[in-house]
Amino acid sequence: MRLSSYLFSKSFFLLFLCSLPSVLLAEDSASSTSYRAEPTPVPPQSGIPQRVSIYEPYRGGNCHGYRAKDISETEQGVTGTLELIGSPCYAYGTDYSALYLNVTYETEDRIHVSIRDVNNTQFQFSNRHDVWDAPLYHYSSSVDKSNILYNFSFNADPFEFWITRKSDGEVLFDTRGHPLIFENQYIELTTNMVDNYNIYGLAETIHGLRLGNNLTRTFWANDEASPLDQNMYGTHPFYLEQRYKPVDSDSNSDQPTYTSSSHGVLMLTANGMDVLLRPKYLQYRMIGGIIDLYVYAGSKKPQNTITQFVGSIGFPQMQQYWSMGFHMCRWGYENISEIMQIRENMRKFNIPIETFWSDIDYMHNLRDFTVDPISYSREQMIEFFNDIESTHQHYVPIVDAAVYAANPSNRSDDTYGPYYEGVEKDIFLKNPDGSLYIGEVWPGFTVFPDFTNPKVQDYWKAGIHNMSYAFGSNSSDYIPFSGLWLDMNEPSSFCVGSCGSELVNLNPVHAPFKLPGEPGYLALNYPAGFNLTNATEYASASSASLSQYYATATSSMQVVYPTAVPLGVQPKFDINHPPYAINTEQGNHDLANHGVSPNATHHDGTLRYNLFNIYGYGEIKVTHKALSDLQPGVRPFILSRSTFLGSGVYSAHWLGDNHSNWPNMFFSISGMMVFNMLGVPMVGADVCGFQDDTDEELCARWMAMGAFSPYYRNHNQLGSIHQEPYLWASVAEASRRAMHIRYSLLPYWYTLFRQASYDGSTLIRPLFFEFPDEPLLAGADRQFMVGDSLLVTPVLEPNTTTVNGVFPGSEDVVWYDWYNHTSIEHKPYENKTMDAPLEHINVAIRGNKIIPMQVPGYTTHETRQNPFNLLVALDKQGNAYGNLYADDGVSITPNATLWVDFAAKSNKLSSVSFGTYEVDVPLANVTILGVSSSPKQVHFNDDNISSYTYSESTQELVLSNLDKFTSTGAFASNWTISW
Ligand SMILES: *[C@@H]1O[C@H](CO)[C@@H](O)[C@H](O)[C@H]1NC(C)=O
Ligand SMILES: *[C@@H]1O[C@H](CO)[C@@H](O)[C@H](O)[C@H]1NC(C)=O
Ligand SMILES: *[C@@H]1O[C@H](CO)[C@@H](O)[C@H](O)[C@H]1NC(C)=O
Repeated sequence: MRLSSYLFSKSFFLLFLCSLPSVLLAEDSASSTSYRAEPTPVPPQSGIPQRVSIYEPYRGGNCHGYRAKDISETEQGVTGTLELIGSPCYAYGTDYSALYLNVTYETEDRIHVSIRDVNNTQFQFSNRHDVWDAPLYHYSSSVDKSNILYNFSFNADPFEFWITRKSDGEVLFDTRGHPLIFENQYIELTTNMVDNYNIYGLAETIHGLRLGNNLTRTFWANDEASPLDQNMYGTHPFYLEQRYKPVDSDSNSDQPTYTSSSHGVLMLTANGMDVLLRPKYLQYRMIGGIIDLYVYAGSKKPQNTITQFVGSIGFPQMQQYWSMGFHMCRWGYENISEIMQIRENMRKFNIPIETFWSDIDYMHNLRDFTVDPISYSREQMIEFFNDIESTHQHYVPIVDAAVYAANPSNRSDDTYGPYYEGVEKDIFLKNPDGSLYIGEVWPGFTVFPDFTNPKVQDYWKAGIHNMSYAFGSNSSDYIPFSGLWLDMNEPSSFCVGSCGSELVNLNPVHAPFKLPGEPGYLALNYPAGFNLTNATEYASASSASLSQYYATATSSMQVVYPTAVPLGVQPKFDINHPPYAINTEQGNHDLANHGVSPNATHHDGTLRYNLFNIYGYGEIKVTHKALSDLQPGVRPFILSRSTFLGSGVYSAHWLGDNHSNWPNMFFSISGMMVFNMLGVPMVGADVCGFQDDTDEELCARWMAMGAFSPYYRNHNQLGSIHQEPYLWASVAEASRRAMHIRYSLLPYWYTLFRQASYDGSTLIRPLFFEFPDEPLLAGADRQFMVGDSLLVTPVLEPNTTTVNGVFPGSEDVVWYDWYNHTSIEHKPYENKTMDAPLEHINVAIRGNKIIPMQVPGYTTHETRQNPFNLLVALDKQGNAYGNLYADDGVSITPNATLWVDFAAKSNKLSSVSFGTYEVDVPLANVTILGVSSSPKQVHFNDDNISSYTYSESTQELVLSNLDKFTSTGAFASNWTISW
């Protein structure tokens, strides 16, 4: 792209140009050990403590709901008005006296129930397509009523409705017995649930896969490191429900057999909300907006429900091929030399590394779009980028949502373009009085781009571009980094409200807490299990830290609750402290605590209250567009902490600031499964753990399991011990072995990503997705499947060399061990114990599947230059199927693609190619598992294959040297192998 066609304003560019010399000047005026401005400390604040409503007496008991009037039903749905029964009940707000009901049969499998106040006073998220647009809104209005899979039924007085699936009469959503409450700051809608229901989703939270019926899920985007069962970064108010029914059978089998069905429910809102999961019901309690409820009729297979749902919010984008490689990061790489050293060390230990990441260390004074002129000098960055380009490795830096608010009394801040240009363009969030909203993040007091403002696009793009210049790019169309990492985008803010408004003259200020590594930081950085084996030492150290903490805690931390409003009395309308206090995790539950407060205002006057949970999504979308503009045609790679429905269309996600312990490793399996159900397949945890110190055993196990995550990154925190995989022999070995498998499987992974991008297929898949009729698998979350072919059984606890796992399916399902290729004996529901030495992770291949592989290289690029192999795992009938997708690995719209279908049956394996993308490397080996007798001869088309071996004991047939038949490319023409 030429500079002249570049969209950002000239003044912005000039500001940045002006800022560069001063950035460079800092080099002369600062010593190399203290190049950062010395921050001013400011005290922490805690807001106004709120009584969490779910723990207080319920105030909705006097509400009688609504009565339906003027109901009419058409081909497209049901409409009518609802009038309040009796006087306002003032549960947690003021009741609307009249509502409008609009039920739409949108597609054959999706129904939309919308309920709003007749005067359209409440905020309507579904009208804000400028903020969130999705296929959901773009259905054809001509669905044939006779084809729809569901029925909508209702009672008029009081108004109650229920939705059933026509095919089997299952009631999917049912408000009977629960009056609707519709108030200005409180909406309550309840559905009856079946006993012991199995529901999944309602992310983002750290919880086992199956949510159970004793949980409150709170939706309030929140920067918090691994709080169990509580709200954190992302908001996805969707659940999948799986139901089982025993099948009456007259067979003599003592094993009962089941049939199953699944469906999905979405409550579309960006407002704050609690969802109460209780034994008999599930209840939505929203603090604003209207009701936009979607029910997906689903089908027998959970995956089909997911396809219906993800199709409605947007199928995920295809990722670049390199992003499947191993990523290494640490908050605390003090300079680029350290990263260059990591690169050498990884090579020396022969552990693949694809991508180097920078946390905030690279920034100058922790400010967005700047680069530290000394520790990440332009000269060294150019050298680094040249190095990694020559080896086809990659670099991804972090960008935070918040922008440093320049100190007007400090002349050296004058050159900080991202602040002044944003002020000039007027694109930051405001206070209700129109002044800038000034919170606090890493660089000090900060302002927050309003990503719903159309003018923010050029601003943000210019920032990214100018950063690429600071990194050493000399040309306007070259970004040396391969993607961007968006952090702190809930957005996080370390204080309450616009705390910097009066104090910005103190900037830069220090975060109101100690950073890891600073004197006084409250750290219990012990390896997992240390407290068990070193109890005395642990107790004295931790009590010392705690007493130090309590000594510094201020009296402002004391909890003084506001007085409760008596029942039946109209509660006061309050944006920052709504009458219904959701169970948000932060401190004392003040909604403004540790985040940008609900009364911050967008460019058009919309309160953040109503768009609270979608801030990070807005940043993702704007960044995606900026990267596509800067590198036209290339799939942007974005990793985001905060996510919303449909984020997968643009972005990957990591599970956030976890801890280096076994429970966090275990919960990350469910985290990955759930994000896969939500259309965000590129997901993974910070391997070895982010906070606290990891240890050798945990890190070895996690590096191995991480190799089976779609997104595979080791990342840890400032002040924690280093955890690069070569630091311990066992971790290095576990990593090499597991990465050898991962890189071999890249063609399989890439095919899975392609499938996800056209039908929402999950990559990391719960066992019940593949075996939906086994109720005992409904909560299985210590094992997972990669696609439909591989079953992974990781070790999730210390001090063991064995692991238990099930091999799902009847005895007819064949499972082969990945390593020795033998068929694994198993019985239904049997928990088998397997050997699991420290460097080993158990992986099984499912019979009936064909897996495309490549000889692994050091990078994904090298792997792509190597020959293909096929692994054919026959089932008991001697059949197996699989496929392969290939393209250039980077283009948004590749000009050529290739699909290959593999099928094995009756002692024949065929490969049939579709498409024009040319894979020019040959096929080397084909390994066929489950071949019951030694073949007399083996053919490739009509040619004899002489180089093959057969093992009687493993029933394995290995064909090698096939490259002589496929020298023009493994799949250049169709072929058949027979034996
Ligand atoms: C809607 O607005 C009209 C006109 O202001 C008013 O008379 C009516 O009471 C309102 N209805 C409701 C249900 O608030
Ligand atoms: C009812 O909903 C449908 C679909 O969302 C919409 O097209 C229609 O305009 C709505 N009707 C009213 C009166 O709001
Ligand atoms: C429900 O969860 C709460 C909070 O975790 C717990 O105290 C209570 O015992 C649980 N109730 C049941 C029936 O499990």
